[in-house]
Formats: sequence, structure tokens, C-alpha cells
Amino acid sequence: MITRQPIVAVMGHVDHGKTSLLDTIRGTAVAKKEAGFITQHVGASEIPASVITDICKDSLAKMKINLTIPGLLFIDTPGHEAFTNLRERGGSIADIAILVVDITQGFQPQTIESIKILRQYKTPFILAANKIDLIRGWNPQPTVSFSESLTKQNDAVQIKLDEQLYNIVGKLSEMGIESERYDRVLDFTKQVAIVPVSAKTREGMSELILFLTGLSQRFLEQQLKIEVKGDGKGSILEVKEERGLGMTVDVILYDGTIRKNDTIIFGTQNGAAETKIRALLKPKLAGEMKDASDKYAYVDEVHAASGIKIFAPGLDGALSGSPLLVASSDPEKKKLQEKEITDQIKSILFQSDAAGVIVRADTLGSAEAITKLLLSNNISVKQSGVGRVSKKDAIDARAVQNENRRLGVILCFNVSVSDDAQIEADKSKVPILSSNIIYALLDKYNEWLMQEKERERVSVIENLPHPAKIRILPNCCFRVNKPAVFGVEVVGGKLRKKASLMLPDGTEIGEVKAIQHDKKSIDEATSSMQVAISIDGITFGKDVHEGDILYTRIGKREGDELKKKGKDILSPPELDLVDEIMRITSKSILLCRIRENKRFRLRGLFSSFSL
Ligand code: GTP
Ligand code: MG
Repeated sequence: MITRQPIVAVMGHVDHGKTSLLDTIRGTAVAKKEAGFITQHVGASEIPASVITDICKDSLAKMKINLTIPGLLFIDTPGHEAFTNLRERGGSIADIAILVVDITQGFQPQTIESIKILRQYKTPFILAANKIDLIRGWNPQPTVSFSESLTKQNDAVQIKLDEQLYNIVGKLSEMGIESERYDRVLDFTKQVAIVPVSAKTREGMSELILFLTGLSQRFLEQQLKIEVKGDGKGSILEVKEERGLGMTVDVILYDGTIRKNDTIIFGTQNGAAETKIRALLKPKLAGEMKDASDKYAYVDEVHAASGIKIFAPGLDGALSGSPLLVASSDPEKKKLQEKEITDQIKSILFQSDAAGVIVRADTLGSAEAITKLLLSNNISVKQSGVGRVSKKDAIDARAVQNENRRLGVILCFNVSVSDDAQIEADKSKVPILSSNIIYALLDKYNEWLMQEKERERVSVIENLPHPAKIRILPNCCFRVNKPAVFGVEVVGGKLRKKASLMLPDGTEIGEVKAIQHDKKSIDEATSSMQVAISIDGITFGKDVHEGDILYTRIGKREGDELKKKGKDILSPPELDLVDEIMRITSKSILLCRIRENKRFRLRGLFSSFSL
């Protein structure tokens, strides 16, 4: 067993300095040693232990840290999309992350997105509060140490820095995360360390590297122990066509060894597939390249942790975010490896019979992140797939709409929509919501859902009778009949024009022709309003009387629908009123049946007499 380098991912909002920070770490490493010392990887760069020692020497000694890791492997493709491709079952192969926040801008949407993703994958992180050189009055120092530079800053600058740091602490706290400036952290298992840095002046690089190292050694020790000679295990970061070679995959190897001619198993849309490695490629350093096309050096084997490009036939269908394993020489174990990959893919790219939204994403990693996010928000997913939206997706979403309108939606992340899919979706009114920010997709769906609920509300209200209970007021008959006009008070619910009314025994009274309030015609009267109503076909004093209670007539089917769909629309007292009305409706249905029965029996009696 050996300890491998921790895999470090860099995340954060656009322009907050992720690339600059990586360049600076790399540059610092190169500057500290002879050029060419830094080890280049595909999709990653490595800072070896000797460079860590060099950058952090005083602090390492001061904090009594004995270096046990061989270096740090930084993933060069920043952004949460790449991060989601560093997936392994139930988590991420990134051992730790740096969340970069521009201290002058504070939290931005993608900062929050990054934190949510880190949380979803349970990846610990350090926050780099970048661009401290932009704090008004900052006096840049020729040092990589933040603490050394801080002693040279005046009080006003130090106060300003703390103010801005505590804005970040406050934002994290709103998300339920405790944090502190790195030198004030009391418990690293509970608090996120914030390291103030400048990618421009390199101040703070020493502490950033020191804390990445220290925390990895202290908390990730077990997960960094690997069987170096074991079968290689990695995750596909990207699938790329490489000119002159063909389809290749960029892989971050986090365990074991991978060799030329090894058989590898990887994931495709249809489950596990296998091929034999033709070439393993590593980037050449600038000095070793003949020209721009001469980018890669061929190697025979690589050990974890490492970033490597693999060329092999049959990689066209490989999925970004899929596991890539060196096949075991034991056929039984190999079968298990294949099953493991197929199971993983099936658990992410699935189809179910239940109603749910349809998810289309660009990679296995993003499909997994979106599906997890939706499920954790209690939104069921019917299908989750990788690739562009097809006509079939639109047809499937239409079918879901018939079961549940609110789920008949296609959510897509970083994928295009085929023309015939768009035509089908327009025709069947299936919304296609797309975004290249995972959480924005959820927001878009929620926004659409709210509009949809409002549409449903309006249509339910328009098409179903609204429950109302009214009382006829004393001394308020304005006209006895043709039509009868009299005053009523709305006791509960809402009385609408055209509502059909009945007495508490179910006797039908007629339709409300008009409602007047303060001599003005209105369409509806709400609870406790006193209004005049007119009804044709009845006579006041014969069919209805002062003090009578009247209800809106609601049929059984309408009542059932109101109870089902009306939960968001009707208030609890209105729902109770629906129950009260339904009791009258069912009683009068029962009475009707009894009367029918009696008539039937009498008819039978008469017919037997006539015999
Ligand atoms: P995306 O990859 O587009 O998301 O951006 P990024 O986070 O990689 O940011 P990038 O490193 O490209 O930096 C954005 C801008 O900020 C560039 O103009 C950098 O020069 C500038 N910048 C980055 N770090 C610092 C810093 O510490 N101080 C100052 N003054 N500028 C910085
Ligand atoms: Mg960048």
C-alpha cells in the first residue's frame, strides 16, 4: 500500500479566478524549481511533495506537519460540469476541492451551485477568498505567505479584509455551513477554512497549499491509501476526438496501475463495453514539443493518481463520467466489474413506468447530479438519458401529461433538441426547459410549475362550481317572481353568477341570474358579503323563505374533482363546505333511488293485479 496524491478540484463562479489560481499554483511550482519539474497530466497537473515543502517550508515546520503525501493532483478542467464527471458510485473521486470566491464580489449563483454540488457528493473543501490585492489600500508584498503579507498591511485594510471575509462566513452560515479564516479555525471537522489569496500577486499560495496538504493528510489518509500495482480504476473526464488518432478518453486514474495493451471496461449508453488500450498518452512539456501538433508523449504505464489520455478502438460510445476499469485477469472478477459498471449506468440512465419528468444531459455525471437533485426535491423522474432530445422524448412526455400534467416536461442540460422533437413538443405543448447550470434547471422547473398551477387553478375555477352557502335575509324581498329578487348573506365560500342553488334537503331552486352589490352588478360575492340575487322560475314565499339556507349544487363527480384538485385552490373552510354539500348531494341521490324503487314496486303490484 502506498499513499497517493489527493485529487483536488477547483470550483467557483465565472471569472472569480479558478484558472488564474491554478496557473499561479503551477507557476509558483515551476518558479520554485527548475522549469520542467512540474509533472503534467491530461486534465490535471501535479505539484510534487518537494515543491510543497519548498513553498510551505516554514509553516510546515511551525505546524509540525510531516509530509506523507507524494504531492497534490489539481484537476485542470475547472467548473462544476467537469466536477460531476469525476464521479464514482455514491461520491466523487475528487478528494478535496478549492472553492474560489472573488472577495470583492462575494457569493454569486455558481458559488452556491458549487457548494450544493460539493455537498451532494460529500466532498470537503477549502474556500480561497481570491483577489485580496483588489481590497482598497492593499499593499502587495513579494511573498507567497498571506500571514507575512498581512503584517505589512495597515489597520484599515485589515479591518476591510475581515469585513469582506465575514460576509462570506455569513453566506456560508445561511447555507448551514460553519467557517472561519484559516488561522482562527478551532475544529477543522466542523468549520470550513477560508484562505485569503491573490492569484495575481501569489500572496496566500503558501497557506492554501499548506492547508490542502494538512487537511488531506489528517482527514483523507485512508482513502488515499492504494494498491499501486492493482488493476487501475478511473473516471472518464472527457470523450474527445483527437486529430490523427481518433476517439480518445481523458481519464483521471485514482487507484492502481494502467498499462498499454490492458483490456479496459467502461460505460456506454447500453452498459459496460470493453476494448484494448492501443496507446497511453501524457502531455509533453513546452520544451519537449516540436510543434503544436506534437502535444503528447507515449507511455507504457501510469500509476494513480494520474490524468491520462487513452486511445483504443471502440471508444466512440464511451460516456463522460463513467467508470473505467482495467479488466481483471480472473474471469469471475471481470464479470463482477462489468456488472458493477452496467448497474451504475442503469441506476443513472433509467426508464420507469411511473409518471415523472424526462431528463436529458450531456454526460453520465451531469445526468446523475440532476436526477439526484430532482429526487431529493421529491420530483419523480421517468427517464434519464444522455444525448440530444429526440421525438420519442416529446411523445413520452406527452403521455406523462395525460397522467400528471405537472410532470409532462423535458429537462435538458447542455444538450440540443432535434428538429422533429421540437416540432412534436410544440404540437403537444410539452415544455422543454434547458439550462447549463444544474440548479437553474430546477429553478426553471419550479417556475414553470408555479405557472402551471396557476393555469390549473384558473381552469378548475372556470369549469367547476365553487362551493357557497348563503342565508336569505329578512325583509329583503325586492320582487316575488319572474325573476325573484331578494337579499342574501354569503355564510361561507363564494357565490358566483350562474351558480345552481338548492335547499338543505337537496331540492333544486334554480340558477343565480345576477348578483348586485351596492346597486352594481358583480360576478361573485365572497364570504360575509350581503348582496341581492335574482332567480327565475321560483316564487319568493313559496319556494324560498326568509331565513332559508341555500347551497351551490355540486354533483358527485364535480365534488370528487374539487376535493382532488381543489387543495391548492380552496381554503380549508371551503373544503369543509364541499364536504357539507356532498353529504346533501349523496343524501338526495339516495332519496331519489328509494323513490324510484317504491315506484317500481308499486308498478309490480299493479301488474300482478291486472293478471
Ligand atoms: P471562468 O473559467 O470563465 O469561469 O473564469 P475563472 O474563474 O477561471 O477566472 P479567471 O482565472 O479567468 O480570472 C478572471 C479574471 O480575473 C481575469 O481577468 C484574471 O486576470 C482576474 N484575476 C484572477 N485572479 C485575480 C487576482 O487575484 N487579482 C486580480 N486583481 N485579478 C485576478
Ligand atoms: Mg477558467
